[in-house]
Amino acid sequence: MTIFRSFYSCLILQVALTLAMVYAQDDQSGFISIDCGMTPGLNYTDKRTGLNYVSDAGFIDSGVSQKILPAYNSAELDLQLTTLTSFSQGTRNCYTLRPEQGKGNRYMIRARFTYGNYDLKGQPPRFDLYLGSDHWDTVDFSMSLAMDYEIIHLTSSDYIYVCLVNIGLGIPFISALELRLLDSTMYAGQLQSLALSVRTNLGTSETVRFEDDKYDRIWYALDSSKTTNLVTSGTVSSGPSTKEKVPSRVMSTAITIDNLTDYLYYSWEATDANTTYYMYIYLAEIEILKRNETRQFNIYLNGDHWEGPVSPLDHMTSTLYSSFFNSSSYTLAMNKTKNSTLPPILNAIELYTARQLLQWQTDDKDAAAIWSIRSTYRPKKSWQGDPCVPQASTWVGLNCSYNDRMNARIISLNLSSSGLDGEIAANLANLTMIQSLDLSYNNLTGVVPKFLASLDFLRILNLTGNNFTKPLPAELLAKSNEGLLLLSIEEISNQEKVSCPTGSCKKSKSNKVVIPVIATATIIFVILTALSILWIIKRRKKVMNADLDSIETRNRRFTFSEVRSITNSFNTVIGNGGFGTVFHGSIGDNQVAVKMLSESSAQGYREFQAEVHLLMNIHHRNITSLVGYCDEGSRKGIIYEYMANGNLGMHLFDRTSEILSWRMRLQIGLDAAQALEYMHHGCRPPIVHRDVKCSNILLNENFQAKLADFGLSRAFATEGATHVSTGIAGTPGYLDPEYSTTNRLTEKSDVYSFGVVLLELITGRMAISEQTFILNWVNSIVREGSVENIIDTALQGEFDIDTAGMMLTLARACVNSVSTQRPTMNNVVIDLKNCLEAEEDFHNAIPDNIDGSISLVPDLR
Ligand SMILES: *[C@@H]1O[C@H](CO)[C@@H](O)[C@H](O)[C@H]1NC(C)=O
Ligand SMILES: *[C@@H]1O[C@H](CO)[C@@H](O)[C@H](O)[C@H]1NC(C)=O
Ligand SMILES: *[C@@H]1O[C@H](CO)[C@@H](O)[C@H](O)[C@H]1NC(C)=O
Ligand SMILES: *[C@@H]1O[C@H](CO)[C@@H](O)[C@H](O)[C@H]1NC(C)=O
Ligand SMILES: *[C@@H]1O[C@H](CO)[C@@H](O)[C@H](O)[C@H]1NC(C)=O
Repeated sequence: MTIFRSFYSCLILQVALTLAMVYAQDDQSGFISIDCGMTPGLNYTDKRTGLNYVSDAGFIDSGVSQKILPAYNSAELDLQLTTLTSFSQGTRNCYTLRPEQGKGNRYMIRARFTYGNYDLKGQPPRFDLYLGSDHWDTVDFSMSLAMDYEIIHLTSSDYIYVCLVNIGLGIPFISALELRLLDSTMYAGQLQSLALSVRTNLGTSETVRFEDDKYDRIWYALDSSKTTNLVTSGTVSSGPSTKEKVPSRVMSTAITIDNLTDYLYYSWEATDANTTYYMYIYLAEIEILKRNETRQFNIYLNGDHWEGPVSPLDHMTSTLYSSFFNSSSYTLAMNKTKNSTLPPILNAIELYTARQLLQWQTDDKDAAAIWSIRSTYRPKKSWQGDPCVPQASTWVGLNCSYNDRMNARIISLNLSSSGLDGEIAANLANLTMIQSLDLSYNNLTGVVPKFLASLDFLRILNLTGNNFTKPLPAELLAKSNEGLLLLSIEEISNQEKVSCPTGSCKKSKSNKVVIPVIATATIIFVILTALSILWIIKRRKKVMNADLDSIETRNRRFTFSEVRSITNSFNTVIGNGGFGTVFHGSIGDNQVAVKMLSESSAQGYREFQAEVHLLMNIHHRNITSLVGYCDEGSRKGIIYEYMANGNLGMHLFDRTSEILSWRMRLQIGLDAAQALEYMHHGCRPPIVHRDVKCSNILLNENFQAKLADFGLSRAFATEGATHVSTGIAGTPGYLDPEYSTTNRLTEKSDVYSFGVVLLELITGRMAISEQTFILNWVNSIVREGSVENIIDTALQGEFDIDTAGMMLTLARACVNSVSTQRPTMNNVVIDLKNCLEAEEDFHNAIPDNIDGSISLVPDLR
């Protein structure tokens, strides 16, 4: 005891200093005090506590202000509990709190609910309370018509969302919402969040709160007739063993018992045995003990010794805390030891239940960006709570990726027709994972900012229907020209092309040299059959396509002797056609394919010109890229990137090659469709390929498909024209019947041919086989009603019947004999993406033993 006393005397000075500081900074920084239902814009200082309350209007958009009935009001009731906000609209309504001190801090959050029969129903509701996506508690008034829910929570995000969720048992409401920053040492060491069950101030009838408690914990009085109250007029300081900073006002009262043979106990029932409780008990000696007096006791929980013997320090707080679980009821008992002349003493108790919160939220930077976009534009959308989480409540117009289990990322934002005005918000630059941004049909003005071009993942940008200042940033146009971005904006002027900035597209307008190829179907058929055996792989080498870009930047015109050396003197033939021969070649480490025109082929020469012009000007990852060309008198050749896996037809129709899986077929279809989408909708003027077919879809080493052979392609000569008249060209079986009868060429002719390719992908049959056109064959089987029998038997049933059905429907729509009834390539791409997604879902849902990948379904054997 003497040791304690001398220790105490030197501590008291230090404590006195600390207290002085505490009282000097009794400010409310780190506090957010919201009086829900108060008139927007108002604030007041609460007379009882001195706390500054603001209206909830700045923290939520939804809800209706209400007042409790006068009968339930009283002088004792906190002012902020007399009004409330109720939420009859929507199942989930969220307050957004953004404390200045940000994440990584421990906060106490208190939500207060006083029913007061505000709705005259006399029937309080029951609803769920969430912290972000984590269930915090169910608000239930069966014990009392006024409930407080409080949680101590270490945040991992700058945003705290408090959500009220309607569970069909009445309209959620809230009276007050309070956030308090705690000192970092308080309640530390707990990874879990602590939901308050009980916080009591013993030995008094007085409730203690701010400013006595600097952290505004509410210490409710608990009076018991069985115990004796003790009180001291002195100050009780925080001792060395306590970090919880219990106010002196709370510690200066305590309970004890009169009868020395008796003991103090405190008991409670668990809501369920799995609940983990954290109990904090606070002890201080507040009586002046005489020389011959001792107070010493042991503490037991459910009869098991927990602590002791303890002798509380004189006017100094000690904290004892522990977690308890695995029982349906608990009794804390304090028994004096034999030597003790005084009964046990107890000053205050806190009891918490542990909550494991996953704190799964939107990435902070994305959240900050989208919240400020929201405040810039105030879009006419209900945007509240966490932008991405939970997935079912993602903000309208937003799509998120959930690959990272902790942080969801925003990958698309659609603010089309949202009544936006002003300039493009700079905060968009912070949505670094965004892939698709649609700002079309608003009243946006100003210059289109350059930063849009630095969003690495942005693939779709729709700016149509605004009033932007011209010109567009060069960086953005360049990206669009490289095929890295599908940029949509109305034609600004004839000079400022969104795509195809120079060369063929413009030339085709003025340059009448590029005339339509007129050929009989027979001749074309011969040439194209020959083409289809192009690029047959003799060797499979490691291909490095990445460096092709650097080759492209140099002059693409090669001399004949350069071509000779590239092809190692035309050593390896990889294909042959009516117009000439295709050779394997290498430029540095890059493999290439070199198509040399035969000198006698006049028609081939026109195709050569058309193709070089076109490929020099269009760049897309699903279009074979031009490495260069050679045009030396009669020696003409085109150098392309090398496509290691040849053409699609080889894989589909040659039963000796490896079978393309269903998924690969969908992906190849999508790749090819994206190339056509780019030509039809990304290029101005649009380009019609005119010879879409399996043998013109080439596959690289990763089976990524690229559209090839642009010899027949035509750009529309005049803007605004919906079609051009040309001689008929194309391949039998793929040829649009409407085009061949009317001679009118539109993009829809490509859609038709693409539909035939889709049918080939589905069936594994050639466009024309056994004298039968593929569509007639498909229709005959559909009439029999056996869709499964249409699917390529080589797949041996390894496909998802639903996506097969979707794909078949799409293919049949594409080959509609009336061109206006066919979908556009935009729609085709959307449908194929959906197919691919559905396929992935299907694929993920079943165990996949075929490729040995790990099954997600537990083995039940
Ligand atoms: C505490 O004391 C009471 C009364 O003497 C006794 O009934 C009880 O068993 C004691 N508890 C423990 C855990 O020793
Ligand atoms: C009780 O008192 C005796 C005699 O003063 C002492 O020897 C003993 O250690 C004390 N027991 C406890 C638990 O303090
Ligand atoms: C954006 O939404 C509009 C209408 O809600 C829709 O027409 C448009 O296709 C969407 N944009 C994107 C890129 O999905
Ligand atoms: C982007 O985020 C950073 C912090 O991550 C911030 O400093 C910057 O102001 C934000 N930029 C914009 C334009 O909002
Ligand atoms: C866009 O701006 C024009 C002219 O300022 C105005 O007439 C029009 O109503 C605005 N549209 C919207 C949707 O705000």
